Amino acid sequence: MEQMVDDSLEDAFQHRIDAEVKIEPRDWMPERYRASLVRQIAQHAHSEIIGMQPEGNWITRAPSLRRKAILLAKVQDEAGHGLYLYSAAETLGVDREALVDMLQTGRQKYSSIFNYPTLSWADVGSIGWLVDGAAITNQLALTHTSYGPYARAMVKICREESFHQRQGFELLWHLSHGTEAQHEMAQESVNRWWWPSLMMFGPPDHSSPNSEQSMRWGIKRVSNDELRRRFVDMTVPQARALGVLLPDPELRWNESTGHHDFGPINWDEFHRVVGGDGPCNAERLTRRRRAHEEGEWVREAARSWATRHVPARIEAA
Ligand code: 3HC
Repeated sequence: MEQMVDDSLEDAFQHRIDAEVKIEPRDWMPERYRASLVRQIAQHAHSEIIGMQPEGNWITRAPSLRRKAILLAKVQDEAGHGLYLYSAAETLGVDREALVDMLQTGRQKYSSIFNYPTLSWADVGSIGWLVDGAAITNQLALTHTSYGPYARAMVKICREESFHQRQGFELLWHLSHGTEAQHEMAQESVNRWWWPSLMMFGPPDHSSPNSEQSMRWGIKRVSNDELRRRFVDMTVPQARALGVLLPDPELRWNESTGHHDFGPINWDEFHRVVGGDGPCNAERLTRRRRAHEEGEWVREAARSWATRHVPARIEAA
């Protein structure tokens, strides 16, 4: 009898997904749907927080007050995106501290892209143009994800990401059209960030363990490969406008498909970096753990204030 009840709940749930009705926190949902959302939203939040480090590295070394102010605003935005996404994850009944602990103990991931070093000022431009450009490509699709709080969080985040991408493009444009040394700095940076940016969309569809179920549940609306293709098609003309070359000799327009063909991605490198053996993995987590420890007094102050000023939660009726 119990199995029959569960089956009908699952059927009703899938009908809602298929009818494009958003799933809200108080709605019944399969535990596996909830767990998959917690996994993805938490990793998205972790990526935003860890992603502050590579660019934060250049705040004190920005070449002008204007560029420093822009970079400060962008890095602060990323912190806000992390906060937004941890809050969306908490609507699924998880505790933010527990998620942060899973990040810091390596039991949850963050985007591999943030395990690469920022070696020159041009990298701030490449991250904005390529990394945030890739993030927008994915996050625009996620504005239609089936879980209400996640979809709504994406609307605000995408608006801010477009500023992030545009400021990166502008930074690279000035370098690329500056002195010869500045143009070389821009080109050298794009050479390093292009392929890791393509890896941000995840493994190929045929080897993605989550995609099929995630798309059936409407969590993922567009496949990894399709998102990657959209990103390449969007970025190639932008590179032309920038006056930089994308480091792929096989990149070319395919008249018959109406899209760009591009060369093979180094999936060994992807799995190595995701597995913890990237250039900056250890540094990123060490800094994250230290920042968390140093921030304990703020959390303690907030908790003690809350116990004195926030009335006990009124039990749900
Ligand atoms: N880095 C690290 N891990 C990755 C990865 C990457 N670039 N791509 C995939 N993975 C992991 C997945 O998490 C999964 O591992 P898990 O099962 O242990 O979670 C495994 O590799 C297999 O990948 P799948 O394609 O099967 O996994 P998903 O269906 O979750 O798809 C995804 C991967 C497309 C990244 C999806 O998780 C997603 O859309 N996430 C939300 C967006 C996001 O996290 N973006 C990261 C960047 S955020 C950012 O750039 C902020 C900007 O402001 C700078």
